Amino acid sequence: MLELAKSGAWVTELAARAGNGGYIPPDEAIAFDAALALALGKNVLLQGPTGSGKTKLAETLAQWFGMPMHAVNCSVDLDAEALIGFKTLSHDQGRPTVEYVPGPVVKAMTGGELLYIDEVNMAKPETLPIINGVLDYRRRLTNPFTGEVVEAAEGFGVIAAVNVGYVGTVPLNEALKNRFVVVDVPYLQGEALEKLIREQSSLRDASLISRFVRLSSDLLEQIRMGQLPDEAASIRALLDACDLAAYLPPERAIRRAIVDKLEDEREQAAVRNLAETLF
Ligand SMILES: Nc1ncnc2c1ncn2[C@@H]1O[C@H](COP(=O)(O)OP(=O)(O)O)[C@@H](O)[C@H]1O
Ligand SMILES: [Mg+2]
Repeated sequence: MLELAKSGAWVTELAARAGNGGYIPPDEAIAFDAALALALGKNVLLQGPTGSGKTKLAETLAQWFGMPMHAVNCSVDLDAEALIGFKTLSHDQGRPTVEYVPGPVVKAMTGGELLYIDEVNMAKPETLPIINGVLDYRRRLTNPFTGEVVEAAEGFGVIAAVNVGYVGTVPLNEALKNRFVVVDVPYLQGEALEKLIREQSSLRDASLISRFVRLSSDLLEQIRMGQLPDEAASIRALLDACDLAAYLPPERAIRRAIVDKLEDEREQAAVRNLAETLF
């Protein structure tokens, strides 16, 4: 893997082999650096606004490396069981027995596979330190449910994602952040976004597609000026709008996919205005 990683053509080649539908990097360095860091055994933290393709990038990396990925979705309810597993009562030839069901962390470690920790900043501060030893050079965990020491098998890798500027999230704990190499994942723009819309939405009309690309850049501009929240330019929402616009008038599609999700009336009006000018 490392030999491959040293060659610059490597990521382009993997991307070509994976074909359409994978992550499209706004800048080659994003996919390359993330893949290289993983190949070097580093934990990778993907940092970017909602719907910028973080999960897509993680899935694409898993595909490139040909590795299964085990996902953990963080929330305030995340606990040791959701990470490590739990004990349950089962029956062995009619006799009740206690069985341990491994969670995603243990599965990824023992299989030498990928662990994806999504929205890592949503977890309560006391939960993730349980896996600190998994995230540092030790790559080791004492399983609180079995008492066993679990060592990560060769190939084990960790990708985490964090939504930045997302309401309701807390800044990431320093000790945790320290254990990661950070890769910023911004919203896709321009020609690359056009390609994405063609690959991932039902919209076929070239003129409409280029207007949606323009809409996206106008939305980003307003976000930069503080007029709109980050999620207004979510690529996920834009793709929804494009799908609807294959069948509905574009303004109605934009209302359903983008405008009506905004809380503030002024923000809604701002997006409606942009849409009216463009469509
Ligand atoms: N750069 C990109 N390349 C490919 N797909 C993307 C990209 N950006 C966004 N998407 C698409 O937008 C949607 C949201 O992406 P996702 O990975 O779920 O975002 P995030 O995890 O950052 O919230 C998905 O359908 C994904 O395929
Ligand atoms: Mg995601």
